[in-house]
Amino acid sequence: MFKKFKNNKKQLQDYARSIIPGLSGLHGKKPEMYLPGGNWPTYYSRAKGVNVWDLEGKKYLDFTMVGVGCCVLGYSDNDINEVAKKIIGYGSLTTLNPPEEIELAETLLEIHPWAEQVKFARTGGEMMAVAVRLARAATGRDKILFCGYHGWHDWYLSTNLTSNDKLNDHLLPGLKPLGVPKALRDTMIPFKFNNDEDIKNIVKPNAKNCAAIILEPARNTLASSKFLKEIRKIATENNCVLIFDEITSAWRNDTSGIHKELGVNPDMATFGKTMANGIPISALIGKKSVMEFSTKTFISSVNWTERLGPACALAFIEKHKKLKLGEILKEKGVRIRQIWQKAAQNANLKINIQGILPLSTFEIKNNQWPLIITFFIQEMLKRGILASDRCYSNLCHEENYLKIYEDACHEIFYQISKYLREEVLEEKLEGPIKQMGFSRLT
Ligand SMILES: Cc1ncc(COP(=O)(O)O)c(C=O)c1O
Repeated sequence: MFKKFKNNKKQLQDYARSIIPGLSGLHGKKPEMYLPGGNWPTYYSRAKGVNVWDLEGKKYLDFTMVGVGCCVLGYSDNDINEVAKKIIGYGSLTTLNPPEEIELAETLLEIHPWAEQVKFARTGGEMMAVAVRLARAATGRDKILFCGYHGWHDWYLSTNLTSNDKLNDHLLPGLKPLGVPKALRDTMIPFKFNNDEDIKNIVKPNAKNCAAIILEPARNTLASSKFLKEIRKIATENNCVLIFDEITSAWRNDTSGIHKELGVNPDMATFGKTMANGIPISALIGKKSVMEFSTKTFISSVNWTERLGPACALAFIEKHKKLKLGEILKEKGVRIRQIWQKAAQNANLKINIQGILPLSTFEIKNNQWPLIITFFIQEMLKRGILASDRCYSNLCHEENYLKIYEDACHEIFYQISKYLREEVLEEKLEGPIKQMGFSRLT
């Protein structure tokens, strides 16, 4: 049945959706999030470096997040592959435990000497759920102060039991807490990132009743040192567990979590995503006083004990350090930003660029932004480039590829500017406008 639709992207998408609700396990991999209407390749046959081949064998250059930010060494990295093949040969899951877990725990504790113990899982969201469980267990409190996005689990989505808009400022607007027990209502207290007023009015007065304060040390910008230090002080004074979610931010600027360069230590930190260049593994590091509650409550899963994750994470961290990958990713971030800036300037478009260097995003300042970004993706695809409003730096974004992307940006920004002036941009769109967030979920 599947083979029948293999060469028709739209039919394949519809068929997939009919037997896999929502099509993908990740909201961000739905074709509507890039290009609705049937032209987005959606499925791949193979990938190498920043090249991805679709089911019809057409090759694309990936200038999006390259595996949702998971594959900074490029797809199918030879060194990671070698380790993965070796582990499969040894047996990747047995009655006994993989010794690489101990080595990886030691490595993470060496990088972050403030931490004393480590737990592993396989996804970011479940690692955050573990962190929250431990913080609640250690403090005997239920409430959580937080900002940002931290996964899909009940503890997080329960924020919107109070009202559907509570998560709007924290990455994904319009999320409905359907299926989340109503008893969790009012357990979540959101505050704004880098906002002194919210520290004074929300964090300070609520901290004494909260199990944890949770935030990413960097998202659209780095957290200010003053903001982080103040949060650290409040957490300490009120016996709250301070948790830094480094699932996206770590292993970018250097071979560690970003909080290290900011000079503020949490009580626990979580890692995931690129930690093994796309092989599933996540980690929680923390102070013994909280981590030891892992043995007092019940946290356990079979697939957290397989061997590919820790073995490939060790290989990734070693290669990251050896290459000084953080420096490379920052340099590439600078280059990508220059491309956008220059292309926008030449086309007379106003542009807003955000993010830490390896996680850069852009927005053309215009009230037709959803239309503009959909057109941008459409035209990039015609040139064999997978694109979006963000480009995460990748080791394999080599200069010859950057040049192709640069030329395409210049041409398409010029088209956007011309079509906006002539008021014909909408006519040039060959399908519907892309989905911008969770608010228009189908
Ligand atoms: C900061 C942050 N926390 C948690 C998550 C959830 O991780 P996962 O999708 O692996 O469950 C993500 C994923 O994008 C994230 O960026």
